Amino acid sequence: MRADIVDVIDARVPLTKAGKDYKARCPFHDEKTPSFTVSSDKQFYHCFGCGAHGSAIGFLMAHDHMEFREAVEELAARVGLVLPEGAGAEDEPQEAGNELLSVLAEADRFYQRQLRKHPSAQRAVDYLKGRGVSGEIAKRYGIGFAPDGWDNLLSALASDETRRTVLLRAGLVVRKASGGYYDRFRNRVMFPIRDTRGRVVGFGGRVLDDSEPKYLNSPETPVFHKGREVYGLDLARTAIRREKRALVVEGYMDVLALAQFGFDFAVATLGTATTREHLHALFRLSPDVIFCFDGDRAGREAAWRALETALPTMQDGRQVSFLLLPEGEDPDSLVRKEGGEGLATRLAQARSLPDFLFEELQKQVDVRRLDGRARLAELARPLLAKLPQGVLQQMMVQRLAEFSGVGADRLSDLVVGKTSPRASRSAPGSDKAQLRKPPSLVRTAIALLLHEPGLAQGVGDTSDLVALDMPGIPLLLLLVDLLKSQPGLTTGALIERFRDSEYRGAIEKLLEWPHPALQRELNLEAELSGTLEQLRKALHAQRTDELLRKERLQGLGAAEKAELSRLLAERQGFGAG
Ligand code: UTP
Ligand code: MN
Repeated sequence: MRADIVDVIDARVPLTKAGKDYKARCPFHDEKTPSFTVSSDKQFYHCFGCGAHGSAIGFLMAHDHMEFREAVEELAARVGLVLPEGAGAEDEPQEAGNELLSVLAEADRFYQRQLRKHPSAQRAVDYLKGRGVSGEIAKRYGIGFAPDGWDNLLSALASDETRRTVLLRAGLVVRKASGGYYDRFRNRVMFPIRDTRGRVVGFGGRVLDDSEPKYLNSPETPVFHKGREVYGLDLARTAIRREKRALVVEGYMDVLALAQFGFDFAVATLGTATTREHLHALFRLSPDVIFCFDGDRAGREAAWRALETALPTMQDGRQVSFLLLPEGEDPDSLVRKEGGEGLATRLAQARSLPDFLFEELQKQVDVRRLDGRARLAELARPLLAKLPQGVLQQMMVQRLAEFSGVGADRLSDLVVGKTSPRASRSAPGSDKAQLRKPPSLVRTAIALLLHEPGLAQGVGDTSDLVALDMPGIPLLLLLVDLLKSQPGLTTGALIERFRDSEYRGAIEKLLEWPHPALQRELNLEAELSGTLEQLRKALHAQRTDELLRKERLQGLGAAEKAELSRLLAERQGFGAG
């Protein structure tokens, strides 16, 4: 059972059948005629125009900007599999994760019950009322109350030492230096943090007064990663799909207030900077993401960091905007002051990512001066280089050219030329020289095997080649061995097999280079055996040279003499080679 690469790509880039493969215009570079090819046999995609290539996993990583694990999960889900939480990423066994999740669910019920039943809950209820939180919203978001005291949760949930250690690993209790445990959350309004599947993975707790720290959050645990979770996303996902936009704010209370005023597509990051994982989670639901931050210095900085994080994820069609509120306001206070209409009006005026980027940079330079405009170009260049190649990047380069007076062509060279090694790997079209460079024999052989793994079955014993002193020989021999022992491996599977190996770079390079024989569908078997024959000749020459040199310097033993004369005789047989 596997997720076919053709289905995976076709859902994103509609493919048309061409022979036994499929074709489309390449999503990774601009082109008029389709040179993007997807092969079901090879479980591999390849663009003959720009060299982009990879497996289904690689495609999701490059096209949807997923992390490796996300891509694997996505593919697993297609065939109806659910990967255990943490599988592949951590050693934490699945049962342990389940244990944490179930104790977190119990804690969630406990805190919610305390808000209704605990003798001192009135203070928390009054606090929430005082902040305008409706009962309906409190219920919807599962707001709870951790009563004052050191062991409320402990005594309710932990009957024995084993359970106490589960609570500890779930971040719900703290271990004393002297031994023993105490409740982490005390005398706080509790906000359960749920993952996208609605399971409670952590908590935030707010004090009822102005003591410090204002918010206490669960520590990182095997099931809780602040850089991954988006507060409120489980409740907002339908609304985000419906609205075709997501609103990202900073605080728990902001999410609650916004939801109460009808902005049910609002979510929050958990007191951390926005991460790529946050963005991926949002972009999966809608192509339009609006960040709404406080107008203070911290808010501006958070917005700028979010912009920098968003740049590499800005594939064409996605939009990111920024709304900075007036000094001293946050979304909660603003929506209560100006009402839903006031906020809606502001949202409609949120600045697009390009506007925000250029406006912020222009504040840092004097655009009336020639050297100021040069500086603007310098500041913008590395940022624009982070964008995926596409229409947005071109348009922003064009705009920078207008602002700075530097020619668009020159800027484009600077920006596109400045791509990271990773980006240039997925879009190597700019590096034409590399593609034209004729590959060595070893590289040819490896490339043939990578593109047509089945060819290995026709290859005889190659162990003699181990003596050949040429770069790439170890990889070539490894590939031959691997493919002979596992005949079913596809190109896509090979890429994944070597993803974490030292050969990854070499393999990527060779897959970028479309072997002419592969394009023209020549006799690849003959091509490979011809190449291997050339390698044997090279080995032959290497050994001959070695012996000749040794003969000159120190003389040869009897066996070596015999070997040398045999080699020299055979050389005649090789003809001109
Ligand atoms: P803010 O200080 O803006 O709080 O922090 P807020 O959400 O407006 O809180 P209220 O309105 O005073 O209740 C924004 C977010 O930063 C995280 C929390 O996630 C908070 O919602 N934060 C803040 C912490 O984690 N710890 C803190 O001590 C403060
Ligand atoms: Mn606030």
